[in-house]
Amino acid sequence: MVSTVKLNNGMEMPAIGLGTFWGKDLKMVIKISIRLGYRLIDTAFYYKNEKEIGEAIKDKIADGTVKREDLFVVEKLWNTQHRPERVLPALEGCLARLQLDYVDMFLIHWPFAYQSDNEYAETGREETVSFTETWKAMEECVRSGLAKSIGVSNFNKSQLDRLLKAAKVKPVVNQVECHPYLNQKELIEFCKKHKIVVMAYSPLFAPNRNFFNSNIFQDEIITRMANKYDKCNAQIVLRYLIQLGVVPIPKSEKPLRLKQNLNVFDFEIDVDDMRIIEKLNQNKRCVNWPHVVQTSKNATNLKRHLERHHPGITNNDLVYDSDSSEESECSTQSQPQPQMPEEKKLKQLSLRKAIKRSGCAYASENPKKIRLDK
Ligand SMILES: NC(=O)c1ccc[n+]([C@@H]2O[C@H](COP(=O)([O-])OP(=O)(O)OC[C@H]3O[C@@H](n4cnc5c(N)ncnc54)[C@H](OP(=O)(O)O)[C@@H]3O)[C@@H](O)[C@H]2O)c1
Repeated sequence: MVSTVKLNNGMEMPAIGLGTFWGKDLKMVIKISIRLGYRLIDTAFYYKNEKEIGEAIKDKIADGTVKREDLFVVEKLWNTQHRPERVLPALEGCLARLQLDYVDMFLIHWPFAYQSDNEYAETGREETVSFTETWKAMEECVRSGLAKSIGVSNFNKSQLDRLLKAAKVKPVVNQVECHPYLNQKELIEFCKKHKIVVMAYSPLFAPNRNFFNSNIFQDEIITRMANKYDKCNAQIVLRYLIQLGVVPIPKSEKPLRLKQNLNVFDFEIDVDDMRIIEKLNQNKRCVNWPHVVQTSKNATNLKRHLERHHPGITNNDLVYDSDSSEESECSTQSQPQPQMPEEKKLKQLSLRKAIKRSGCAYASENPKKIRLDK
């Protein structure tokens, strides 16, 4: 049985879970995972996979492998659903697709919102709703019994601080990208202080979709430790996160890997090795904007990256140059530029605003450390 961590509302949550973004044959993967012992399943409106997950859960309950109460299902509110009147209906929609009466946790996926006719939109004009208003509607989800707990994702310290001041129901979790190359040390400390559990997404540095050269599977230090502890690289990384008090949610669709990723409770990384892994931190992130900003060698690369990886986000969505106007509470976008900017202007991208748009924790707190190369 997987160990659990205690949440600030008294609930127990599995200490590791299953990621489901971009998974193939998901229904089968979920069924195998439940059989192997996974109890936490992470999904989101945005992943468009709730139906398959719901069917797999239904099958595993029907065949007696688990009861509903053994499982911990995590759902997320998408950025187009932040208006308070949309929150409860959004959750009801998720539940209908999952064929469940409640979710164990409902998270605000990102701390910014946008308007769009397309609910699944990846970008759009800023929606003038603050996440503190959205949070009130999230609290209603708990009161209605449709969500057993509520939390956030991709929130930085100042956003959490603001939320905590406004919240009647405290967030139980902050789900953020976290792995040895982005160890989120300060954010984890902050969350511990406020009894918020950090859940690590892309805990294996998402080898399928990061575009750095580095990779935890080829990392010499992690490989050396894997040999020392007689484990594989993924297990070292997951164990490292667990020892930090973080709950990782690795995604795999391969039974052997699913098994490996769960088998991380029978060894312990010693203090010296934990320190060595800590030193691997480079603040590299796989997900979203600051990643582009940090890694683009020049404006051309940035433009190319946008075209390839973020087709939903046009150049007009970027905010250029002047950093003078105050950013709004939930997002960043000022008036879009009327014309496609030239490369030169692209270099002048207002980093702070692009960063804030991403809602990314590290980057928002270290805007000066993140700049485009000349
Ligand atoms: N809140 C958010 O904004 C947010 C953002 C991103 C992700 N997430 C959640 O976090 C979950 C996990 O993150 P992720 O999917 O980005 O990345 P990840 O779990 O770090 O990496 C997944 C990749 O690692 C491979 N892998 C898994 N276990 C392995 C092992 N033992 N050995 C070798 N390779 C292995 C998988 O390949 P195979 O599948 O082929 O095994 C897949 O390509 C997502 O699925 C999603 O549920 C949340």
